[in-house]
Amino acid sequence: MCGIVGYIGDKQAAEFLLDGLSKLEYRGYDSAGIAVYDGAKIRVEKSVGRLAALRDKIGSNMPKGTLGIGHTRWATHGRPSDRNAHPHTDCSGDFVIVHNGIIENYLALKEDLIEKGHDFKSETDTEVVAHLLEEVYNGDFVSSIREVLRRIEGSYSLVFMSRKHPDMLVCTKQDNPLVIGIGEGENFIASDIPAIISRTRRTYILNDGELAVVKKDSIQITNREGEAVTKKVFEVNWNAEAAEKGGYEHFMLKEIHEQPKAVRDTMSQRIAKDGKRIVMDELKWDADYLNSFNKIYIVACGTAYHAGLVGKFYIEKMARVLVEVDVASEFRYRNPIVDENTLLIVVSQSGETSDTLAALKESKRLGAKTLAITNVVGSSIAREADQVLYTWAGPEIAVASTKAYTTQLILFFMLSLYMAQIRGTQSPERVEALISRLKEIPAQVSETLSDVEPIKTFAKQYGFNEDVFYIGRALDYEVALEGALKLKEVSYIHAEAYAAGELKHGTLALIIEGVPVIALATQKSVYEKTLSNIKEVKARDAVVIGLAAAGDTELSKYVDHVITVPQTDELLIPLLTVVPLQLLAYYAAITRGCDVDKPRNLAKSVTVE
Ligand code: F6R
Repeated sequence: MCGIVGYIGDKQAAEFLLDGLSKLEYRGYDSAGIAVYDGAKIRVEKSVGRLAALRDKIGSNMPKGTLGIGHTRWATHGRPSDRNAHPHTDCSGDFVIVHNGIIENYLALKEDLIEKGHDFKSETDTEVVAHLLEEVYNGDFVSSIREVLRRIEGSYSLVFMSRKHPDMLVCTKQDNPLVIGIGEGENFIASDIPAIISRTRRTYILNDGELAVVKKDSIQITNREGEAVTKKVFEVNWNAEAAEKGGYEHFMLKEIHEQPKAVRDTMSQRIAKDGKRIVMDELKWDADYLNSFNKIYIVACGTAYHAGLVGKFYIEKMARVLVEVDVASEFRYRNPIVDENTLLIVVSQSGETSDTLAALKESKRLGAKTLAITNVVGSSIAREADQVLYTWAGPEIAVASTKAYTTQLILFFMLSLYMAQIRGTQSPERVEALISRLKEIPAQVSETLSDVEPIKTFAKQYGFNEDVFYIGRALDYEVALEGALKLKEVSYIHAEAYAAGELKHGTLALIIEGVPVIALATQKSVYEKTLSNIKEVKARDAVVIGLAAAGDTELSKYVDHVITVPQTDELLIPLLTVVPLQLLAYYAAITRGCDVDKPRNLAKSVTVE
């Protein structure tokens, strides 16, 4: 999982490469590098650390030239170091490449190439591609690259550059994203749109197996067989500002604050004008089909998996269909019982998560119908699934997912109502009443966001604790899981979420004086039981921060502090309770001086297994 860029045109390539990479650092940031052709030779500059380290290294001595490629890395094969940073070259320095993905058969290839006399400089899987190209080169750049592609196995997006062919860049992809930005007298290549959006909104999104020859004034795309492919230009409908911080100190904070708009955008167009029904015109399945399957699997990773847990709750409750939720990395290795009567829903902000994509492909092979919930139009998962529901959250740049989660919840809620309409499992009156509560959510998220001071105070007070526990029952438990994940990933505090009733089966042993426990108590049917669990931790002298719906006068009697969110239907309250938990994670990370947008060891888009 890495970010790659390429430039060909009349302008100085290095400027675009460094700027583009800065927009892709969410994909990896343990080392970075660029290679620029100066008319005679290719200059490669790389450095371990953030892009800033590379900029420092280059200083005012910018590589000159109008053809170049760049890379920001998240290490898989070979630890982060100058040597392992991309771009990688062959022995002669004639061929230079950047790669995102994994070359699975690199060891066998490497042994063979070493025997043939190639001298490897790094421990990466990627470097074999450069040497292999040198080995098979026949004078024709493109056909030699095709020969390399026939010999490598794995997942990749690759950009190739050669001193012998300075009028072109060649790029291709398999299971990793790649877009080409169409300019005037210049063209761009990148892993993702934010890298090119300040230069152009007109793009081609490459499909697996496609290969593009990108010149200054032309882009030629062919398929695996070498046949020309006619592609539609994909016009990006958001602007560069959406991918900038817009006055916020961090993308995470900006994205938390974008949630009112993101949830509004995601729900609008999907509510009938009279407010009585959900419409999902984008689903091309007929009512008979939606009535026919007997099981739903929701498969995802991380935060998207947590959204799936809430999705299960919604669909089972509203549409009365059995739903199982699984993490994608487990799902396909346990021979899941999937057939043509199964609906598989995959959830992925990026639409590129490798495990989720693999689970999707495997379920299709087994005959399931598939539906993707994703935020990225044209992503691999969007293209692979039979049907897609887009969250209209706009680009999510911070590694910690926030607005993607809330918009995924919105879609699950709407999908459950939509299924309930079709299956007749809820009365029209109940559906209408829930839709009217749903429409209040954007304003209620704004209201929740305006009450930030107490959260800042808690973050300062408890930000240096080593452990924090989150407890809740029913939907509160699902949100607790997400709250704990947010805290650990950005602040590095050890945080665990438990179904409140489970505490006494082991974890209570960890509750000692002064340990912060965040207790969510918004679900009426289990409210009394949650209170009992709160009393259990209070009896062990934990410090309890309770999270309740406005108007709750009971909880404050048993906890040390209370945070309230506006009242709504208890099915919808996760959309509100998650907001203070996101803010708490953010401000705890600030208190501890953590790099919020780029937490250690993590990257935004996990395109490796
Ligand atoms: C956590 C986070 C990750 C992602 C996970 C799946 O804040 O961002 O847990 O949710 O890597 O990513 P997507 O949704 O892109 O498939």
